[in-house]
Amino acid sequence: MGATAVIGLQWGDEAKGKIVDLLTKEHDIVVRYQGGANAGHTVVFDGQKFKLSLIPSGIFRHNVQSVIANGVVIDPASILGEIESLTSRGVAIDTNLMISDRAHVIFPWHKEEDRLMNDMGVGKEAIGTTMRGIGPCYRDKIGRSSAIRFGDLFRSDLKEKIEKIAAIKNRSLPGLAPNAEAAAQVKVMDAGEIYRQYAEYAEKLRPFVADVTGYLLDAVDAGKKILFEGAQGALLDIDYGTFPYVTSSNSSGVGISAGSGVPARYIDRLIGIVKAYTTRVGGGPFPTELDNEIGQKIRDRGNEYGTVTKRPRRCGWFDAVAARYTARLSGVTEISLMLLDVLSTFDEISICTAYEIDGKTTTHFPANAEDLRRVKPVLETHPGWSEDITRISRYADLPENAKKYVARISEVIGKPISMVSVGPSREQTIAVE
Ligand code: GDP
Ligand code: IMO
Ligand code: MG
Repeated sequence: MGATAVIGLQWGDEAKGKIVDLLTKEHDIVVRYQGGANAGHTVVFDGQKFKLSLIPSGIFRHNVQSVIANGVVIDPASILGEIESLTSRGVAIDTNLMISDRAHVIFPWHKEEDRLMNDMGVGKEAIGTTMRGIGPCYRDKIGRSSAIRFGDLFRSDLKEKIEKIAAIKNRSLPGLAPNAEAAAQVKVMDAGEIYRQYAEYAEKLRPFVADVTGYLLDAVDAGKKILFEGAQGALLDIDYGTFPYVTSSNSSGVGISAGSGVPARYIDRLIGIVKAYTTRVGGGPFPTELDNEIGQKIRDRGNEYGTVTKRPRRCGWFDAVAARYTARLSGVTEISLMLLDVLSTFDEISICTAYEIDGKTTTHFPANAEDLRRVKPVLETHPGWSEDITRISRYADLPENAKKYVARISEVIGKPISMVSVGPSREQTIAVE
C-alpha cells in the first residue's frame, strides 16, 4: 500500500487537522511539506483542543514519526513556542519530531517585508497575509542569494551570512515603505543580535534536524505508511489558485513531491477536504460569498474566526465549480465533507453549480482573479433540515435532506464522499456507506 495525502480543496481551514489526526493511527509517518506558521490546524480529543501551526497533526501518537519536510518555511521562534506549549500540556516531543535540513528559515526581515508589502496591496485589494513572513521567505528561497536553510544554521559561516543579508535588507526594506515617515519606522536589522538569537534557537532545535529526504526515501523503500498533511487549500495554490490572492507555495496536491522528495507515484489515496459551505480569510474574489445575515449565521454557527489571526472568516455557499476544479487538479480519490452540522436550522441551502460570465454559463474555473471577481454564481437551492446532527454516528440516521445534500455535493464534484464530519471531535465523524 502506498501513501495517503490530505488536501484542502477550498481556501484553507477545511478541518484538515481533524482528518490527519484521525488517520494517523493507520500510518507510520506524518509529513508537513509546504507552508509554515500561516497554517492553523485544530485537533480535538478527550475534551481537549490543540492548535498546530508547524508541527504535524500526527504528533499526538508518540509511536508515529512527525516530519517537517524541505518545502516548509520555518520560523524557529514559532516552532520552539509550539514545542514548549505542547510539552507543557503533556505531549511528548523528542525523537518523534524531525525537521528537514533543507527547509528554509524565516528571519525577522521576512516578517518586516511581509508587513510592508501587504500594506502596499496588489490590484484592487491587499492579499491580507497572516504576516508570518511566508511570502518573503519563499521569495528569498527562489532568489537563492539571501536564503538560509536549516542545515546552514550549524555551519561556521552563519554569522557572516546573516551580516551580509542583514546589510542588504537594511538597504532594501526602507524602499518598500510608502513615504519617508514610514521608511523611518522600518525595523533596523541588527545582525549581531539576530545571529546571537538564531545560534541559540539552532542549539535548541539541533536534535530534531536531519536529512529528511533520505529518511523518507528509505521509508518508502521499506514499505512504511506515510500520511501527507497539506496546509492551506488548493484555491490558495501559488500556481493554480486565485493568484495573486494566494499563499506562496503549492498548496494543492501538486506540491507533495516537490515539498517532500517522495515521488508522486507512491501516493495512491488522496483525500480532498471540503467544508459543507465555503470560507475565506484575507482578500481576493469569492463568488459565493454571503455578505449578509445568512453569512453571519454560518460564521456564528461554525465559529468562523481565524485559528492563526482571529480574523472573522468570510462565509458563503458551497462552490462546486471551484471544488470540482481543485479535486481534479489534486488527483483526489475521495472527499471528506466537514462541518455539515453548521448547516442545520437553515430553511434552504444553496450550491453553486456554474458561473455566469459575459452572458455565458460555464463550469470552467477562470485563471484570472479579476475574471473570477466578475462571475455570478448559478445557485441550486435545496431544502434544509432542522435537527441537531452532532450526535449522529451512522450515515443512515442523518436527516433525509442532509443525505440528499451530501449526495448532491458528491455528484457535482464528481468524486465519492467517504466521510462526513458533524463536530470537531474524533467521534463526530461518520463513515459514508
Ligand atoms: P484546518 O486548518 O484545515 O486544519 O482547519 P481549522 O482548524 O483552521 O478550522 C476548522 C475548525 O472547525 C476547527 O475549529 C475545528 O475544531 C472545527 N471542526 C472540525 N470539524 C468540524 C465539524 O464537523 N463541525 C464543526 N462544527 N466544527 C468542526
Ligand atoms: P490552514 O492550513 C486559511 C491565507 C491568508 C491570505 C493568504 C496569504 O490553516 O488551512 P500568507 O500568510 O500565506 O502569505 O497569506 O493565504 N492563508 C490561509 N487561509 N487557512 C490557512 O491555513 C492559510 N494560510 C494562509 O489569509 O489570504
Ligand atoms: Mg486552519
